[in-house]
Amino acid sequence: MDLQNLLDDIVGDIQPFLGQGAAADYIPGLATVDTSQFGIAVATRGGEVYASGDATVPFSIQSISKVFTLALVLAGDDDSVWKRVFREPSGNPFNSLVQLEHEDGIPRNPFINAGALVVTDRLLSLTDGSAAEAVRSFMRDESGNPGIDSDAEVAASEARNSHRNASLAHFLASYGNLENPVDEVLDAYIAQCALAMSCTDLALAARFLATNGRRADGTAFLPASQTKRINAVMLTCGTYDAAGEFAYRVGLPGKSGVGGGVIAVVPNNCTICVWSPALDRSGNSVAGVAALDAFTTRSGWSIF
Ligand code: DON
Repeated sequence: MDLQNLLDDIVGDIQPFLGQGAAADYIPGLATVDTSQFGIAVATRGGEVYASGDATVPFSIQSISKVFTLALVLAGDDDSVWKRVFREPSGNPFNSLVQLEHEDGIPRNPFINAGALVVTDRLLSLTDGSAAEAVRSFMRDESGNPGIDSDAEVAASEARNSHRNASLAHFLASYGNLENPVDEVLDAYIAQCALAMSCTDLALAARFLATNGRRADGTAFLPASQTKRINAVMLTCGTYDAAGEFAYRVGLPGKSGVGGGVIAVVPNNCTICVWSPALDRSGNSVAGVAALDAFTTRSGWSIF
């Protein structure tokens, strides 16, 4: 298959979707982005990169970071994090508060905000307080881009508007489900979400999910069985209350972020990252999901 040709075709076909939906505005630092942008990049398991559109423009990775914190925790710890967070789809918005009380402070999965706060808390404990730095350093190493960093303006904007996440974190603490002070957990979580990366950077950084857990330098990061599990949780929970629709349309493990990025994995084959800032009501990029739909439909590269 001519991947470059396919990506260029998708950039052409996606034009009518650009600007459908709206950029996230509950974090004001994300609201001013130009919604006519669209990028797509594929990184093969061997490390070749194919890209088209705005694939080298950095954007705010937001919840895509949650996959990497989970992977770092599973790589550095035993399985005990699964006593503190479930792995079932929530059927609720990513920042919902209601389920947490019904379920005694154990979040439904590691990709809704409550679950991600627990995972970041665990990574803080494992790294002596350097969770965000650990994520950043993994991103730099895997993408080969040493310039990757947190966008200070986006982080400050989220920090000023983090009442919901602060509520979730205090709630978790009230159930004894945080090991570190709420403020430290929130700071680390906000810093990991504010990482600015391009489609090319992210496709490369996520490649361990398509290589049975191998890092870019060939060393083992995670056992194949753990990689399988992360991909499974991405499939069932990675796009929140739209995970069923995403599986139906795209048929791949995927993880979205409110910056408009989505990563998807074709196990043993490649990773794909798409980006376009305008979101649907569940917080997933409209053009990004349409592009992944077109990618798997035209390539036949789906897990189903
Ligand atoms: O915590 C938040 O609300 C944001 N930092 C991340 C949310 C997000 O990206 C949800 N994904 N679609």
